[in-house]
Amino acid sequence: MKEITTVTVIGAGDMGHGIAQAALLGGLTVHLYDTADESLQRGVGKINDSLEILHRKGKIQDEEMKRCKANLHPTLDFREAVTRSPFIFEAVPEILELKQRLYRDMEAIVSKDTIFASNTSNMRITEIAKNLQHKDRVVGAHFFNPVVLMKLVEVIRGDETSDETMQVAYDLCLKMKKTPVRVEKDSPSFIVNRVNAPVRVLLGGIVDKEIAKPEEIDALMKFNGEPMGHFELSDYVGLDVLYDSGQYRQQVLHADYAPYEKLAEKVKRGDLGKKTGKGFYDWADGRPTIDVNKRTDKLKMSDIDLVKLNEAAKLIEEGVATPADIDLAMISGTGDKVGPIEKHQGINVDDAIRRLELLAERLDKEVLQPANILTDKPEAVFVLEGQR
Ligand code: 3HC
Repeated sequence: MKEITTVTVIGAGDMGHGIAQAALLGGLTVHLYDTADESLQRGVGKINDSLEILHRKGKIQDEEMKRCKANLHPTLDFREAVTRSPFIFEAVPEILELKQRLYRDMEAIVSKDTIFASNTSNMRITEIAKNLQHKDRVVGAHFFNPVVLMKLVEVIRGDETSDETMQVAYDLCLKMKKTPVRVEKDSPSFIVNRVNAPVRVLLGGIVDKEIAKPEEIDALMKFNGEPMGHFELSDYVGLDVLYDSGQYRQQVLHADYAPYEKLAEKVKRGDLGKKTGKGFYDWADGRPTIDVNKRTDKLKMSDIDLVKLNEAAKLIEEGVATPADIDLAMISGTGDKVGPIEKHQGINVDDAIRRLELLAERLDKEVLQPANILTDKPEAVFVLEGQR
């Protein structure tokens, strides 16, 4: 099994620069590539700013800071970028054709054992690798925003990914001081984004129907100890990213996942959240202040939690992940203090089913309907021991 000491990152945006930084902090040499000098320089600037924060807080020392800076090699030269390392992280926009073309271009010039890892949020790895000769070397390595702080990486096996590719990617994530979780079935949106997808359907539906406002829902979530409100996090991740993900899920999972109206309106106006200074909130002066006194009473925090549990149950039913891995992924990828399975140990399952049915009817969204496994085999959902 090869030991990786150098990696390439394609794309210097929010995720790409974060992946590059995590690799640097893991002691690796990094070639960071982007097509536009402005984007590349912005990415490098963000890495330097973040290293300065870590240094100021005493989390890294002078030596490490110097080493990280010296090991970063930004480049606009595609051939140079992809031929200089045995492991390539791809973090380009979520457009399937763009990714497929990129992988074909890479395959044409790299050695046949170079590994390609996609940071796609949702797309099946098998689809991305579809036109390649050596599909066994393509794997998913899905990081979470902000990469420097969030521990999780979902390591996803495509239909033809080899055991060796999975293992090299897994070990590399450990080297980058991350918490890798294996996703053995290549199912759209994998674990965390899939568990959160129906939450977006629920909360988007509530906002579209004007049952409650985004800031009232966020106030409820912050009041209940969530690190960010749903709409604050949406702005933080980028409304364009969520819009594209919604469209993809609409095509491959269910029509209910289509981007909700208020999200689509904002994207059409170019208000993409933090990155453009405006989304559901104004970010001109930094992170929005959320007043917990404005929390809605039209929804309960436990409704949001139940929707997560329900989708987690569907993932278990489909064999995508174990209950323990789902909890670990949710904790290390989103800052949840307790995973959806552990949180609902000992609940009255019949009551949960009834509440989910009511939510599905109230919002007219089939994807909120209870998972079959909750009725047929609930004991398979609530097992945590001996799973990892
Ligand atoms: N570099 C280094 N350190 C940084 C930093 C950076 N860029 N940004 C913030 N920090 C540090 C701060 O200095 C602070 O350090 P301290 O605790 O020593 O003072 C610490 O990180 C926490 O920052 P803040 O106090 O500003 O804010 P929070 O306490 O709210 O923590 C957070 C920030 C960890 C991002 C937290 O809000 C959180 O967990 N939010 C949820 C994030 C989430 O769910 N991410 C997943 C999104 S989905 C996704 O990415 C999938 C993709 O496919 C779209």
